[in-house]
Amino acid sequence: MEAATDKASATRRDLYSSKRVAPSILSADFSRLGSQVEDVMAAGARIIHVDVMDGHFVPPITIGPLVASSISDQVHQADGAIDVHLMIERPDDHIEEFARAGADSITFHAEATPHINRTLNAIRELGCLAGLAINPGTPVAAAGESVHDADVFLCMTVNPGWGGQPFIADSPDKVRRLASLVGEGTIEVDGGIDPGTAGSVSDAGAGLFVAGSAVFGADDPGAAYTAIAEAAGAV
Ligand code: DX5
Ligand code: ZN
Repeated sequence: MEAATDKASATRRDLYSSKRVAPSILSADFSRLGSQVEDVMAAGARIIHVDVMDGHFVPPITIGPLVASSISDQVHQADGAIDVHLMIERPDDHIEEFARAGADSITFHAEATPHINRTLNAIRELGCLAGLAINPGTPVAAAGESVHDADVFLCMTVNPGWGGQPFIADSPDKVRRLASLVGEGTIEVDGGIDPGTAGSVSDAGAGLFVAGSAVFGADDPGAAYTAIAEAAGAV
């Protein structure tokens, strides 16, 4: 059982080494969350993005570990992974709960804690991929000290807090600068990603493309997912 679990978790970690679009459930219809997840996974999505906001680091309050846990069996049974994006203060206090809820990767913000290195290490010790996010106003150098400690570097392409905001036009340049710093790490982009913007950040070096409103705001989320994946050159 232990070995099978390790193998499944290694397979899920492998997902992050190909270019992929990660639908964000923030824009999903929560009254039928399971079927919304099923629609995008049927179209090929394997990484599902979960946006956690605490009303402090960003103004809105969204969802917590209970919701991540409610979809984690469904996602894992379809060989998918759960990508948790913590937009919260004191991320260290919550990472264990999210790991227990089924997270495969946990990303927190560099702006949210003075203990970046400690928190990255703690996430890895829980068996998850460790991600470090930076806001649009934060220099890429903030990620430079974590090259060996983080698996994922999330470059926000909007200011965090809400779905449906316009993509910040300077983002491809920033992604390019971040990519030259972080070597092997996966670069994730989040905010305003759609078929019109995904290609520019893909060319700049991004590998994981979070899309919320462009997927779940569409009449056919599966078709919308496919259009973004094609624009990003994702699998
Ligand atoms: C915003 C969240 C995003 C959000 C993106 O702060 O981190 O993941 O769901 O939404 P769209 O794709 O609509 O910009
Ligand atoms: Zn997000």
